[in-house]
Amino acid sequence: MSTIINDIEIIKTKSSKINAVDFDDLKFGSVFSDHMLVCDYKDGKWHKPKIMPYAPLTLDPSAKIFHYGQSIFEGMKAYKDDADNVWLFRPEDNCKRLNISAKRLAIPELPEAYFMEGLVALLQLDKDWIPTKDGSSLYIRPFMFASGQGFHASPADEYKFIICTAPSGSYFSGEVKVLIEEKYSRSADGGVGFAKAGGNYAGQFYPTQLAKEKGYQQVIWTDDHKHEYIEEAGAMNIFVRIGDTLITGPTSDRILDGITRKSIIQLAESENIPVEVRKLTVSEVVDAAKNGSLKEMFGAGTAAVISPISGFGYKGVDYDLPKLESTYAEYLKKRITDIQTNKAEDPFGWRYKV
Ligand code: PLP
Ligand code: COI
Repeated sequence: MSTIINDIEIIKTKSSKINAVDFDDLKFGSVFSDHMLVCDYKDGKWHKPKIMPYAPLTLDPSAKIFHYGQSIFEGMKAYKDDADNVWLFRPEDNCKRLNISAKRLAIPELPEAYFMEGLVALLQLDKDWIPTKDGSSLYIRPFMFASGQGFHASPADEYKFIICTAPSGSYFSGEVKVLIEEKYSRSADGGVGFAKAGGNYAGQFYPTQLAKEKGYQQVIWTDDHKHEYIEEAGAMNIFVRIGDTLITGPTSDRILDGITRKSIIQLAESENIPVEVRKLTVSEVVDAAKNGSLKEMFGAGTAAVISPISGFGYKGVDYDLPKLESTYAEYLKKRITDIQTNKAEDPFGWRYKV
């Protein structure tokens, strides 16, 4: 990997906002650290990233992001251990996925060194913003969008790649009850469901609002053909435990290849928890709920970590999950967060020192 750090331009803030932040009472992604990384694509190439004070952007009203939604993002977290070391979790995978999303949205791919070394430089500068309280972390939001101008419905000729960070507490507060979707779809074969495209999330807001009005926090998306298969949640992959077996759907054109999901599969396999990656029908889950073999459901994602689901609604009926003394969700959450925060050995080589 070529080194760009030595000549990365850093403009430091003149007045840090850190003293105004209550690190004991952090929401998710609502206060932002002092600096951001900005990288421009112009004249047919990505230019070296710069670090500058966090500030609003100026964009032309005809910028294609506003009209055609050419926009993608990633989600990551940084953790600080007791010895003040800073850690990331599988960051190269986020960089790879960003470029997979970029390709699908006809955005020029970013050199890996700009992502990785830019991110490291930003975290070194804003290290004091990484919270250490249990369950909190510095949430990292890399994103890329069309800043180039024009109403022509075609890819832009200019883009911006930005990384902002936000000291954050948990994504969900309280229990997570989900609605299994029967009408709306998040994605379709041949579409952009596997990409972290901004529009995938905008398209979920309205059906999720409807679900919230009925008392559910999240929608579980089903396939767009017949709404027969469990796919994923709005911001998480889904795991279901039937008997002792953990089941999650295979990734596809329609499902995001979650880094937490694949880590959980690997962790569970290494601990002899039976795991099946296979298509899972809604009727199998409903039947299991009825006959008592449905033990757990949980969502998995960077922001949500592992979030147990307390119950689900389907076709107007609510099903509660049992309250078990010990759960896979709790166990796997501890295993994964201990690895992420350097409290446990990392036999998989997932941790990345900043
Ligand atoms: N599925 C969707 C739609 C998501 O937005 C996310 C969050 O990033 C995930 C799954 C989980 O992916 P990861 O574990 O890589 O964060
Ligand atoms: C993440 O888990 O990092 C995500 O990107 C989900 C986001 C929609 C909050």
